[in-house]
Amino acid sequence: MKNLTFSITFLITITGCFAQKNTDKPKLDAYKALTEAAAQYTYLSTTVAPGQYPKTWHDDKQKAENSDSGWWCSGFYPGTLLYLAEAEGVPALKQEALAFLEDLKKEQYNTTTHDLGFMMYCSFGNAERLNPKKEYEDVLMQSAKSLITRYNPVAKCIKSWDSAPWNHASADEMPVIIDNMMNLELLFWASKHSGDPVYRDIAINHANTTMKNHFRADYSSYHEVVYNIHTGKVTKQITNQGAADNSSWARGQAWGLYGYVVMYRETKDVKYLEQAKHIAQYILHYPTMPKDLIPYWDYQAPGVPNALRDSSAAAITASALVELGGYVDTKLTDEYWSAAETILTTLTSPEYFAKKGTNGGFLLKHGVGNMPNKTEIDTPLSYGDYYLVEALMRYEKILL
Ligand code: GLY
Repeated sequence: MKNLTFSITFLITITGCFAQKNTDKPKLDAYKALTEAAAQYTYLSTTVAPGQYPKTWHDDKQKAENSDSGWWCSGFYPGTLLYLAEAEGVPALKQEALAFLEDLKKEQYNTTTHDLGFMMYCSFGNAERLNPKKEYEDVLMQSAKSLITRYNPVAKCIKSWDSAPWNHASADEMPVIIDNMMNLELLFWASKHSGDPVYRDIAINHANTTMKNHFRADYSSYHEVVYNIHTGKVTKQITNQGAADNSSWARGQAWGLYGYVVMYRETKDVKYLEQAKHIAQYILHYPTMPKDLIPYWDYQAPGVPNALRDSSAAAITASALVELGGYVDTKLTDEYWSAAETILTTLTSPEYFAKKGTNGGFLLKHGVGNMPNKTEIDTPLSYGDYYLVEALMRYEKILL
């Protein structure tokens, strides 16, 4: 009770400071944005059927691009629907999500990708959180079992992609990308649910190895690190989706930030909190970061200030910053929540937030999927939408 009273007093105090200092900013109406998002996703749901996962929209051809359940993004559409059904109380959105889960559940046996965290935890994880039941728990446990088949105990990390010439890893090597930090939340859930520490231990080892080898002294990160599978030694520090091997790809920085916030939440080990704070410092104070805090697609993208921004990196960052703001002292809370508010105000402005019935039914415009591959450039992305909705819901809660 004492703790609860303290927490409430603390929250009211910092929320008061936060509100006072930001009166000069355009007001963010998270409630309105979520209502509009639910209307847009109701429209999006009329354009797809289970098995056709919204991937992106080609505005020039007025054409949708969907995927099957094996694409790394398949969990985001049902996950976003579940968030919106929760926020807005729209039963039809929940029904639509459940129909997609029925198709998605076969991926629990997929051992060919590290993306099972994204695919299954953003979808079934939310379904289980809202309505705990054995059916969802079994899917999540099997997904965690499939994911840890990719763990290499010598390198002490989970293989992201199977080795191939395109990812510069030979048969004796394994590539690990910073994005993989996002798949660890599923493993923490699995240990809590089953009582078996193996999943949590693997997540901790992976996070520690990543902290050691993916980050430079300034807390920017390599996108891809390649390990020798027999010795565990690092053989390459390169990029796949960034501007250069030694640049910092904006979404990679966002995945790293979010990942270490989750690590702190799950372990309460302050080294992860410090890591998250350092990454946040890099993101928020990078010299060419625009005032609206929507990053260029790479912090060292050629052509800045005319380079493209990545709305998805901004949405992931905003969601992570709202959570991180709950773990730090009042000065930093104010900085992180204020930054999240700035990002969300921009992302819900007409420049980024689509009007109902436009943008192929997606919420956010101006995402950058894979610039070097020349795919999904300046376009909507299902994960941009997912983390935007999550960030708005988290933001609503801190202002309650
Ligand atoms: N995980 C792939 C990406 O962020 O584009």
